[in-house]
Amino acid sequence: MNFQSNDKGVDKMKVKKAVIPAAGLGTRFLPATKAMAKEMLPIVDKPTIQFIVEEALKSGIEDILIVTGKGKRPIEDHFDANLELEMNLKEKGKEDLLKLVEETTDVNLHFIRQSHPLGLGHAVLQAKAFVGNEPFIVMLGDDLMDDTIPLTQQLINDYDATHASTIAVMEIPHKDTSKYGIINPGEQVNPGLYNVKNFVEKPEPDQAPSDLAIIGRYLLTPEIFDVLENQKPGAGNEIQLTDAIDTLNQTQRVFAREFKGKRYDVGDKFGFMKTSIEYGLIHPEVKEKLRSFIIELGKELSAEDQPITSSKDNE
Ligand code: UTP
Repeated sequence: MNFQSNDKGVDKMKVKKAVIPAAGLGTRFLPATKAMAKEMLPIVDKPTIQFIVEEALKSGIEDILIVTGKGKRPIEDHFDANLELEMNLKEKGKEDLLKLVEETTDVNLHFIRQSHPLGLGHAVLQAKAFVGNEPFIVMLGDDLMDDTIPLTQQLINDYDATHASTIAVMEIPHKDTSKYGIINPGEQVNPGLYNVKNFVEKPEPDQAPSDLAIIGRYLLTPEIFDVLENQKPGAGNEIQLTDAIDTLNQTQRVFAREFKGKRYDVGDKFGFMKTSIEYGLIHPEVKEKLRSFIIELGKELSAEDQPITSSKDNE
């Protein structure tokens, strides 16, 4: 297939930059997030944002901008050196822990503040100067993605072939369309790669053009910033990234890559708890104990579920 290039000469560029919006209020985790960044909530022992940074690095990203807001200082501290802690671990010979602490500091991270949480689109707009005239990745901390090839790498591979914006999507149950941005897929140009007709934000199931929902990885061309600068608030009175991508799609082609791996939604309480359990079950330190605990708990719960027989029934 012969793909058109974009008009700003960005087509030969490698994707090297990622933006992680982390300035949201995290209201679904209140009161925990009253004074703490939701991105620092750990899955077993690792803050969710560290999983995202690791996916970026595995995909060859060289520079990462984290968009932060009020109360997000711990994110900066997490990726900074902590000399006192490092000395202490060294003195006590805790080399394994020292390695874990040190590996978070070897990343090219940049930070910018979003003064008011006016929406995801507005958060991405704060990255304009950092990104310049290059294609870039947006990664949401709410979604942890697991696949043999990291999803960010999959999008970069698609970009190398198409030189076009590519949004990650995933099949969801039809009844859930109103919780997501949904694509209206056009022709499939490669297995799992759709030339998108248009995007619809949170449609009711009877209005949804498909069951393919936007998930938290976007590869975008820099023209998105021209659109975002003029983007009016949409759903929830927020400046929506989906609306801007839909507008971008009117002037250049936008593709959607269907993700076939496993997605962990850690943005709400139940998803977060399920993810913690699944990761706990593969964590070398706790997996055995957690497994036995769950089996015991299962027995207790199914005993509780037994119908209660009154003494009369036994007479
Ligand atoms: P969400 O709406 O899922 O996150 O935004 P939230 O606002 O933090 O959480 P709730 O809904 O109140 O519980 C998706 C992503 O976009 C970022 C969030 O930090 C999250 O990673 N975001 C959202 C911003 O950076 N700025 C915004 O103005 C809005």
